[in-house]
Formats: sequence, C-alpha cells, structure tokens
Amino acid sequence: MKVLVIGTGAREHALCHSLSNDPDVTALHCAPGNAGIAEVAELHQVDPLDGAAVAALATELGAELVVVGPEAPLVAGVADAVREAGIPVFGPSGEAAQLEGSKAFAKEVMAAAGVPTARSYVCTNPEEVAEALDAFGAPYVVKDDGLAAGKGVVVTDDLDAAKAHAGACERVVIEEFLDGPEVSLFAITDGVTVVPLQPAQDFKRALDGDEGPNTGGMGAYSPLPWADPKLVEEVMQTVLQPTVDEMRRRGTPFSGLLYAGLAITSRGVRVIEFNARFGDPETQVVLARLKTPLAGVLLAAADGTLDDLAPLRWSEDAAVTVVIASHNYPGTPRTGDPITGLDEVAAQDAPHAYVLHAGTKYDGDTVVSAGGRVLSVTAIGADLTQARERAYAAVARVRLDGSEHRTDIAAKAASGE
Ligand code: AMP
Ligand code: GLY
Repeated sequence: MKVLVIGTGAREHALCHSLSNDPDVTALHCAPGNAGIAEVAELHQVDPLDGAAVAALATELGAELVVVGPEAPLVAGVADAVREAGIPVFGPSGEAAQLEGSKAFAKEVMAAAGVPTARSYVCTNPEEVAEALDAFGAPYVVKDDGLAAGKGVVVTDDLDAAKAHAGACERVVIEEFLDGPEVSLFAITDGVTVVPLQPAQDFKRALDGDEGPNTGGMGAYSPLPWADPKLVEEVMQTVLQPTVDEMRRRGTPFSGLLYAGLAITSRGVRVIEFNARFGDPETQVVLARLKTPLAGVLLAAADGTLDDLAPLRWSEDAAVTVVIASHNYPGTPRTGDPITGLDEVAAQDAPHAYVLHAGTKYDGDTVVSAGGRVLSVTAIGADLTQARERAYAAVARVRLDGSEHRTDIAAKAASGE
C-alpha cells in the first residue's frame, strides 16, 4: 500500500514511524514533514491546507491511502478534496471536523446525543460573558469557540483575566469547571463502527507540577494504571458510539479519529472537548503500544470496513513521551538553534527509546529547531518507571540551546499515585 501522510508534527512522525514498520506499506510519503520524518518517508513540499494540491499530489503518487494529521486541514476540507479524487482518506470531512472546529457545535452534538459534558453557555458579548461567569463562579473556564492550537482555553480564578480572554475572542463558550484527572481516549471510526484505542494522559501545562501556561502538550503516557479497567467500555457506551451515531443521523458522518478529552470527576466521566484527529503527544505513546499493523486499520476506517477488522492487539509495555520545546514556548518560541545528540540516542537508546521530530528542519547538514514543540522523546518499558527512565536518559543526550522540558511526565502514575 502506498501511503501519504499530511502534516508536520511529532504526531505525524509517530504515524510514519508505525507505517514504516508495517509490512503492508510499500511506499511512504509525507507532506510537508520535517527533518525526522525525512528518514522514513519521502517528503513533498505541498501546502497542507490546500485540498486541491494535496489531492493532486496523492493522485500523482498513486497513493492508496491518505492520512490527514492536523485539525486545520481537516476543518479546511482537505479530506473532502482527496475523497472526491477517489482516494481513500483517513480523516473526517470538513463538516464533521466541526466537532473540533467549533466548541459550540460540539456542545450541540453532545446535547443531542445525551453525552455527559460540562454545562455551558455560548456568549457573543460582554453582558452575556459577565452573566455566564457569574452563574458558574470561580474557577472560570473560558474557551475560544474556534480552533486555537491548544491555546484557546483559559482556566482562572481571576474574573478580570476571564473577561479579558472572552473579550479577545469573537465567540466564547463559558462552562462549569470540571475537577478530577484528565484522560485522552481515541477511537477509530468509519462513521458506523467505533474501535477504541488505549487511553493515555497528556500534560498540558508548560511547567512541572502542572504550573505555567497551557500548551499543545508537554508529554504523555499510557496505560493509566490508576484508571478503572471499565473506563474504555463506559466511554464507548456513553460518549463515543452516541456521538458517532448522532453525527451520522445529522447527515454528516464522522470517519477518522475521534478524540475524546475527558475529565474523571467525582460525578462521573465528562467530555472536556472533542478533537477530530490524533492527539499530540498522546499518539506517540498509544501507537508505541499498538501491535496491529497500522495501515490496514486506517484503511478500514477510510473505506468503511472497520466491522470486519480483527480486534486490535496491544503490547503489555508502558510508554512515555517527553516533549522538548524551544526556548520561550508557548510564547514566541526561538527557532533556528542546532540540535545535537540525536545520533547518540539512535546508537545507545534504540529501539526502546527514540526521538520523534516536531518542529525541526535541515539547515544544510544540521538539524535545527523550527517550531515551539521541537522533539518528542518516546520510550517503552516493562512498566512506567522503566519507560520514564529510558525516556529521560534519551532526553539527557539531546542538546538544544535554551530548550525546555518537564521532568515529571508520568511520575505520579509510576509511583502509584
Ligand atoms: P481544551 O482545549 O478544551 O482541551 O482545554 C484545554 C485544557 O483546559 C484542558 O485539557 C483542561 O485542562 C482545561 N479545561 C478545559 N475545560 C475545562 C473545564 N470545564 N474544567 C476544567 N478544566 C478545563
Ligand atoms: N494533546 C492535546 C491535543 O492534541 O489537542
């Protein structure tokens, strides 16, 4: 199978890493990719937001499956353009991707499907904002309605800060605060059948101890030793299947990856958000544990045959990923710094630990930083403690001037908390 992956992050590198190990994959292409993906896939310089260009590239390459990684192309309808060109595509239509593209739309679907989520108001002016904030009280949760690359949500006890964030957005969703640990659960679906993957936990704050600003994600681990073994089944029944059924009922079937961001509250599981694509960095740890070859799974979702797929096989191993970010991320990150030590990881830590690239590119022969999140160092081990040790040993070998990473990814879970 010839596969084309669209995107440029560590998630796409993780997808390409798995696909390159799949015996069914005969050729692997990526657009636009990064310096790490270049080692496993042929790169093409195509604008990922340009559906016509992506469809043309897929046609020219004879691609038999296109996988659209990030949300922006999905919301822009890139999967539709590829599908119209007659090529199977893993990723929802632009309309279905509104489940991620508009938080207000997601709330509407959840209400119709009876899916448990935080109570919320959609507000478009300062009076409505003030009223909603007052109704829920602190801590305040204010969400930009549209796509914001993981930076649209403010959770704060400061009423003025909550109002300021709302004032900077055109339309906001203000909702009740959900306490309790967060879980990311991904499901692959063809619009009818839903196949859950293994749960993971992401670390959204920039600094150790969950301090500092929200980011796209600073690390992740899987499995979750503290979670109820019935969690996946419960979320399937209360969240994933009803949502997929409701999307189909509306005439906008959702196929691809449905990402449920969940809070495990004292009153039960609640949806924090939906995404319409694999999460980053959770994908790095989930795919590290998936034993079933990936291409056939994604193709079955793309062509509507998931019902025929054998149950997924999972490794007993634990996986941890630690993100190395540029100096000043998530503010305005510094880019163009050389990265060294990657060869040492390949020589000393592989295959148990490996580096997935996010914002990197070649400057001549040197790999340099090219974005906020630069690398995602991933490791597997017999348990989270071993996976952590391996991941951090590899992180220590990577040198990037001014870089930042959290030192406590999976620490609490590894010690049984
Ligand atoms: P989102 O972009 O919706 O995933 O929100 C980003 C982060 O903000 C989440 O991972 C949570 O940590 C936090 N958050 C979002 N909604 C809520 C909520 N209703 N209560 C508490 N925290 C929330
Ligand atoms: N891990 C958060 C996200 O992918 O949105």
